[in-house]
Amino acid sequence: MADLVVALDFKDADSALAMARTLRGAAPWMKVGLELFTAEGPKMVTELKDMGFKVFLDLKFFDIPNTVQGAVRSAARLGADMVNIHALGGERMAKAAMEGCAEGTAPGQPSPLVLAVTMLTSMSAGDLPVANAPEPSEMALDLAVKAKQYGLNGVVCSGLEVERIKGACGTGFACLTPGIRPASAEVGDQRRVVTPADAVRSGSDFLVVGRPVTRAKRPDEAARAIIEEMNLAQ
Ligand code: C5P
Repeated sequence: MADLVVALDFKDADSALAMARTLRGAAPWMKVGLELFTAEGPKMVTELKDMGFKVFLDLKFFDIPNTVQGAVRSAARLGADMVNIHALGGERMAKAAMEGCAEGTAPGQPSPLVLAVTMLTSMSAGDLPVANAPEPSEMALDLAVKAKQYGLNGVVCSGLEVERIKGACGTGFACLTPGIRPASAEVGDQRRVVTPADAVRSGSDFLVVGRPVTRAKRPDEAARAIIEEMNLAQ
């Protein structure tokens, strides 16, 4: 059963928490990303947890192993339920992240899931600024296989890649897919997009949706419609 994660990409706590209040009961997970975290900091995670949400802290850590270990340790201490790093950081960084996760998790508490970002869903062929770059989907698959070998819990990928990643890494390896667009929604800056139904059919575990919910006239109704589409597709 896949879960909906709503991306709270807002400039301040007031607007983010107002949106979270609207979505209480409609969506189980909230995502705190770069904009909101940079503006308001760790209290966003604790306030959303206090409201009963599960929280995905989407800061896409990418640094030397020691720094990433400390960052994931802090995120686990804060109570985030899911965090992410970049798969491109390689084996030592990934393993350090898992160590930080274990160090920061309180005894008796579940550890947050640590996912690796493969290729951003906003990138298509030609966007990767390196010579002879592989196709984004091929690169996502390769990075996912490595992330699994390094002991991470899953990956962030496009819905277009989930089936092959699950085939290569097993169904227990989590796939979280942003770039979700209901058939009627605007694509915006995203590129490798799929509908909620297609993401679920391909085996995605978490669907991250931002603007199609948060910019809807009735965000709660938009979230419920997406969940209904997801349920029909299971
Ligand atoms: O508004 P939209 O539905 O495009 O929001 C998608 C969210 O998922 C954004 O918060 C973005 O930062 C995040 N994300 C993504 N692609 C990734 C990882 C995260 O779009 N690979």
